Amino acid sequence: MTNWSDYEQRITRAQSSAELDAIDHELFSRKAGLMTEALKALKDIDADKRKETAKDLNMWKGKLSSALEEKHKELGGGNNNDAFDITLDLPTQERGHLHLIPEFIRKVEEVFGRMGFDTADGPEIETEEYNFNKLNVPSDHPARDSQDTFWIEGVKNTVLRTQTSPVQIRYMLEHKPPFRMICPGKVYRKDSDATHSPMFHQFEGLMIGKDISLANLKGVLVTALTELIGREVEFRFRTGYFPFVEPGLEMDMMWQGDIEDSREGRWLEMGGCGMVHPNVLNNVGIDPNEWQGFAFGFGIERPLMIKHQIPDLRSFYEGDLRFLRQF
Ligand code: PHE
Repeated sequence: MTNWSDYEQRITRAQSSAELDAIDHELFSRKAGLMTEALKALKDIDADKRKETAKDLNMWKGKLSSALEEKHKELGGGNNNDAFDITLDLPTQERGHLHLIPEFIRKVEEVFGRMGFDTADGPEIETEEYNFNKLNVPSDHPARDSQDTFWIEGVKNTVLRTQTSPVQIRYMLEHKPPFRMICPGKVYRKDSDATHSPMFHQFEGLMIGKDISLANLKGVLVTALTELIGREVEFRFRTGYFPFVEPGLEMDMMWQGDIEDSREGRWLEMGGCGMVHPNVLNNVGIDPNEWQGFAFGFGIERPLMIKHQIPDLRSFYEGDLRFLRQF
């Protein structure tokens, strides 16, 4: 006869879950477990003794099962050293998001797209012809000065585009008016301080039709920029000179909010705009007596600085996660 109380003691003294599992198997295995066998053997016992033996066996069965269960808990369930832990701690996955600049570019395309503007594209390495000449920028214009322009070494008359305006030329050479286009992209100038970077982003706009006027220009820009900034901002237009527009304007936006005190209430230039110069239309084979329209070229970092109260434009490019995570 099996001495069940011995098993009870072995369970109490067990040191590991594996040891408990072995006892469990010895007792309760369906094939040859001692308890299993003993219960099966009941049928061969004399009828008068059977009832009492069955009662005894069932008592031990219950006692030993709960002892096993208790001890398992005491040993810490599946977490003790020799137990196999099927869970695996993965590092928490961080979700990324678009950088402010591409996010703004998408928004520009969407907002102007709703107003019927086509999105165009052009190369960042541009010819002097498109970046300057065809835009009515004479060769002695200060914008060509080595102060501003990166010339490509070894390739004659080639520059890193200083503005997105050459895309106006490319677009007009390929399309027949009337049209409206927008072109966001990178531009390059030899400049570097809190509000200038040697590489920055602009979006160009061009709208040519039969009777497009400065009033349309103002309407389009104020509507679009208010939506892009996401709140009412004060705008100001003042005259400005760009060889490819006549008349030419510059548009400023007011620094508002809790930016450094010295900037609060000051104007920040957003970019240039105006009516496309007749010389430019002639340069691309569009008759200025039949067609007219406006163009604008705005920075992308500048409105973002106003929108998010960012004091230094260089933060956009440093890749500092403490900066990036805020947006
Ligand atoms: N290209 C000009 C600049 O970068 C801006 C501009 C574009 C002005 C279109 C007028 C018309 O400063």
